[in-house]
Amino acid sequence: MAGIAAPRGTHDILPAEAPAWRWLLDTHSRVVESYGYRPIATPVFEATELFARGVGAETDVVEKQMFTFEDRGGRSLALRPEGTAGVVRAVVGAHLEQERRPVRVHYQGPMFRAERPQAGRQHQFTHLGVECIGERSPHLDAEIVEMAWRFFQALGLEGVQLQVNTLGDAEDRRRYREALVAYYAPFRERLCDDCRRRLEVNPLRLLDCKKDADLVPGAPLIWELLDAGSKAHFTAVLASLEAAEVPAAVNHRIVRGLDYYADTVFELWHESLHGAQNALGGGGRYDGLAELLGFATTPGVGYALGAERILIAAEQQQLTPQDAGDCDIVVCSVEGPQAERAAEIARLLRGDARVVLDVSDRRLDRKLRQSDKLGARLAVIVGEEEERAEEATVRDLAAHTQQRVPTSQLADAVRHALDAQR
Ligand code: HAM
Repeated sequence: MAGIAAPRGTHDILPAEAPAWRWLLDTHSRVVESYGYRPIATPVFEATELFARGVGAETDVVEKQMFTFEDRGGRSLALRPEGTAGVVRAVVGAHLEQERRPVRVHYQGPMFRAERPQAGRQHQFTHLGVECIGERSPHLDAEIVEMAWRFFQALGLEGVQLQVNTLGDAEDRRRYREALVAYYAPFRERLCDDCRRRLEVNPLRLLDCKKDADLVPGAPLIWELLDAGSKAHFTAVLASLEAAEVPAAVNHRIVRGLDYYADTVFELWHESLHGAQNALGGGGRYDGLAELLGFATTPGVGYALGAERILIAAEQQQLTPQDAGDCDIVVCSVEGPQAERAAEIARLLRGDARVVLDVSDRRLDRKLRQSDKLGARLAVIVGEEEERAEEATVRDLAAHTQQRVPTSQLADAVRHALDAQR
């Protein structure tokens, strides 16, 4: 019988990959916490309605990509396809924005979308996200974009392109929807079934269609329909970004695939991923979202970055840290009776280093070979003779040298030997 495989579109993070993940997550936390963002964690599943109302029932994400299921009481739940709706539910639901405005939070965790898996596109993937909830200001839009940019700078990742746009306010988008309908209506007969429906219910989503993508370049741009207030907001965002020396290119074709956006939207692209998967992340302002979820109107702005895609790009540029191995030291007993003594020594040394205890009945040469595989730099050997003399043998696994050390001086000798190797 074949062993059970991991589900399609999922990826195990095995120990050798852990240092790269830790580097990525820690760098993100460090950068955003330097702007006053604090961690938040919300459930990986939510009421399906949260996403249908928040993200939009006609978006591809909700309509085609969501993993939904019923709980035992018949309620419809969904594995979260994104984090913003849940974070807004949590923050506004707990009235945090009444204590401090804005509420600055960041999160990292798994998201789920049933898209056809390929490099950089999985069923389960990881978001690094931030949300700034409770205040509307172009400076906050710029802060969010700047943080994403500083994060990529902190990683040292080259070749990231930042594209920004504005989707205006509700009235601008109403005019835009009309303009889109007027543009697409003459093509109605050749549109795919989805787009014919989108023409009626959500014309903005016509711009996401892969099948009718050839019509997008000729479609009207929202910029041409914005009122003065929306233009002023966007101009202020661009001025803030320029002052912060964040190189943002204006791209009026960025519309994002989620319905909750208004005003500023942005994406970060990288060529290493090719074609449709080239977005490392995206975000924008979503002042209408809280209301869609049944709360009082509460402005917000944020982003989410795709951790797996960033790691692909970082690995290509050899930025990810080397695997530091399992441990620094292996303490081996040579025969059974020395096991307790070896365990005691291992305990003593753990204050300063990562120590693996090997009291197995394998031969010493095998134990030393295994120590190399674990990445250890020293082996501390406790045999019968050493125990009798209250000593241990400290072996440098790279230099193949060794010395006998009294147990009372062992901690110092080991520290010294590890320092000498660094
Ligand atoms: P999003 O653009 O849908 O935005 O997702 C953000 C990023 O997640 C994408 O740019 C991509 O890097 C990554 N991503 C998306 N789908 C997959 C997948 N199937 N496999 C691997 N990576 C993927 C949002 O989700 C918004 N919540 C962002 C936001 C936060 N807006 C405001 N606040």
